[in-house]
Amino acid sequence: MKFLLIACLGSLVFAQQGPADLQGPGPFVRDLKADVLRDFPELCFSSTNFRLFLENQSWSLFPFCGKAECVKSGADYIERVHDCGPQPKNGEACTIANLAELQRNDTILEYPSCCPKYVCPDGVTLEYPTQEEIKAEIQKQNQAALQAAKEAAAAREAAGPQAAPGTA
Ligand SMILES: *[C@@H]1O[C@H](CO)[C@@H](O)[C@H](O)[C@H]1NC(C)=O
Ligand SMILES: *[C@@H]1O[C@H](CO)[C@@H](O)[C@H](O)[C@H]1NC(C)=O
Repeated sequence: MKFLLIACLGSLVFAQQGPADLQGPGPFVRDLKADVLRDFPELCFSSTNFRLFLENQSWSLFPFCGKAECVKSGADYIERVHDCGPQPKNGEACTIANLAELQRNDTILEYPSCCPKYVCPDGVTLEYPTQEEIKAEIQKQNQAALQAAKEAAAAREAAGPQAAPGTA
């Protein structure tokens, strides 16, 4: 299940910008502004594996289930992300046909093999979160990350004087 959760969080992160087609299960493709390093303005930087990529090269987004591609658009670079898209809201009504495969810990499945394949009983249709629901969930996660960073900074500050007993 850990892998599914990661895949789910990953798709939320990557849903942050650009239009997404939410009509049904994949393929989900969206364009993000590429990460570019100051010293390498002609290359896309991948923060998942800390490597630089040339125009038209693609790379795996492992541990997320997806792949990205470095695309030049005018003077700008775009990271074109392909992933499994949002998790269905009523996924528990269905079974995941490739669950055993997804849960194996001795193989790394690349996109699109790492996407869950839902099989639903007759009459059950998968429902996907709306664009607004996805945005709200991302905002919630961003707030939580910001709050955690602030709390960590406050804890470091509070621990500061104790960490230097000689000065007390
Ligand atoms: C990248 O792909 C596009 C579209 O296929 C092509 O027009 C362009 O020349 C390619 N760029 C490089 C550097 O291969
Ligand atoms: C991987 O799976 C095997 C078999 O299910 C299990 O024995 C092993 O502890 C697992 N390893 C990790 C790192 O989870």
